[in-house]
Amino acid sequence: MDDLSLIAPPPALASLAQETERLGFAMASEPLVGTLLRVLAASKPAGRILELGTGTGIATAWILSGMSSDATLVSVDNDPKVQAVAARVLGEDQRLQLVTADGLDFLARQSPQSFDMVFADAMPGKYEGLRLSLDLVKPGGFWIGDDLLPQPSWPEGHAAKVPRLLTELANDPQFTIVPLAWGSGVVIAVRRA
Ligand SMILES: C[S@@+](CC[C@H](N)C(=O)[O-])C[C@H]1O[C@@H](n2cnc3c(N)ncnc32)[C@H](O)[C@@H]1O
Repeated sequence: MDDLSLIAPPPALASLAQETERLGFAMASEPLVGTLLRVLAASKPAGRILELGTGTGIATAWILSGMSSDATLVSVDNDPKVQAVAARVLGEDQRLQLVTADGLDFLARQSPQSFDMVFADAMPGKYEGLRLSLDLVKPGGFWIGDDLLPQPSWPEGHAAKVPRLLTELANDPQFTIVPLAWGSGVVIAVRRA
């Protein structure tokens, strides 16, 4: 089930992975999460998609490779050094807007229910300001969080935040959720119409 041999990665992935390693950036999304993001992005033709936490653009590339030609992706990170890799490799794609900003500041400036899909891959919008990022999801839209299974890199105290996040999502009557032991551990929440 988790065999990736049939799945063609986005063409940009090889050079992104090379630059990611060169920078020593260890927080990139893994391929199984990428495949999931790609199919979810493909289900939103002309969709408006948000990624919180560009990193070096690994998940950005997977999302772009699922999107229709008229869909758009805004990706936000507060670290210009890592985001510069995404800009170099993916910056010519007119569907992508890279924003260098604090995630919470960015979220506070957005209109409610204005995105078809939100990939929350940074602390802001996931463990801080969760409500701000959930509010951006349109009816029928996805909110996706990953890195929910234990990771060696987790700082002390982080493990307790995961069940709190899942409980808050599960108890929100406006969303229905599925937690998945897929890749680094994923939850997909869909805003009910
Ligand atoms: C898990 S990594 C993102 C990985 C990326 N999505 C990928 O697939 O490779 C988390 C990112 O969040 C960014 N970040 C951390 N704090 C932030 C903040 N307050 N505002 C915006 N981005 C932040 C970090 O710079 C880092 O690049």
